[in-house]
Amino acid sequence: MNNYKISKSEIFLGDNKIKNRIVSSPISTNMANDDGSVTKNIISYFGNLASNEIGMVTVGASSVSKEGGDALNGMHIGKKIHENGLINLANEIQDKGSTPAIQIFHVGAQGNTNYSNERIVGPSKYVVPDIGIEAEVLEIEEILKIENDFVEGIIQAFDCGFKLVEIHLGHGYLLHEFMSSHMNKRSDEYGGDKINRLRIVTNILSKLSNKSKSITKNMGARISADDFIDGGLDLRENRDLINILDDNNFAYYSVTAGIYETAKQKYIQMKEGSYWEYAYNLKKMTKTPVIAQGNITSVEMGETLLKKKYV
Ligand SMILES: Cc1cc2nc3c(=O)[nH]c(=O)nc-3n(C[C@H](O)[C@H](O)[C@H](O)COP(=O)(O)O)c2cc1C
Repeated sequence: MNNYKISKSEIFLGDNKIKNRIVSSPISTNMANDDGSVTKNIISYFGNLASNEIGMVTVGASSVSKEGGDALNGMHIGKKIHENGLINLANEIQDKGSTPAIQIFHVGAQGNTNYSNERIVGPSKYVVPDIGIEAEVLEIEEILKIENDFVEGIIQAFDCGFKLVEIHLGHGYLLHEFMSSHMNKRSDEYGGDKINRLRIVTNILSKLSNKSKSITKNMGARISADDFIDGGLDLRENRDLINILDDNNFAYYSVTAGIYETAKQKYIQMKEGSYWEYAYNLKKMTKTPVIAQGNITSVEMGETLLKKKYV
């Protein structure tokens, strides 16, 4: 126990006391029902993780709409039909001794009609080279609807018992796409300068705060520290985003890197442990707790990173 003094210590994320510093990264299991609702297998998977002395278990990317999903059996969120399963899932994680968190996303232009049978949409025309499907450009009304879908999904997650909700702003998914000038070529109020490229995120945050002032206090964000591509995001480019999230009292950031187009680079960096450096650098930019991940294979390794103040 003494060897793991820091990793076994408590930490507050928003209003939630997390029993230790071990977090399971968001994992999408693609075991949902066809309508995106939670199955027994999903409950069993995350319940099993929760019973292993993990402080916070993060359920992986749950899409705010059918169109926003990236797999035939991915989880969806935001509709009445999803409610019971989400309640059972959050309860199971809690009952098994961990704090339940869930990640919310929209796949955007990286979607694949071979897996989703849905329109592929994004801020601009864009083709993931390995997929080869051109994304359709979203109309303003559609963007406003997606903003509302995020708000509904996030509120439903809290209502169903998740203590923390993580908004996916990385991996080249829709919200990331709007922020990146590599993927966002729009010339309206959602493209061009940084304020415009951040608009979809700032609109979601202000719509959330209209519903409940302090809701973002229990939210986390997955942030890209490097997209490995010209015009993409890195920590310097994300400075304004981090300031906005800090101003909204976010509970934590989970650092990541890469988009589908640069997946190869991403895995090389991850194996080399560069993601810990990203966490270290992000930590210097904010007082908000930062979660490191990528090839941390033992509690000893986690303890060493904590001791060296990487996280
Ligand atoms: C099967 C699988 C599913 C994943 N699903 C998600 C996801 O839904 N959302 C996300 O942000 N990352 C997802 N990831 C990435 C992980 O959260 C994590 O970043 C990655 O596994 C590297 O960290 P690790 O070495 O600590 O596991 C997934 C990874 C795997 C292997």
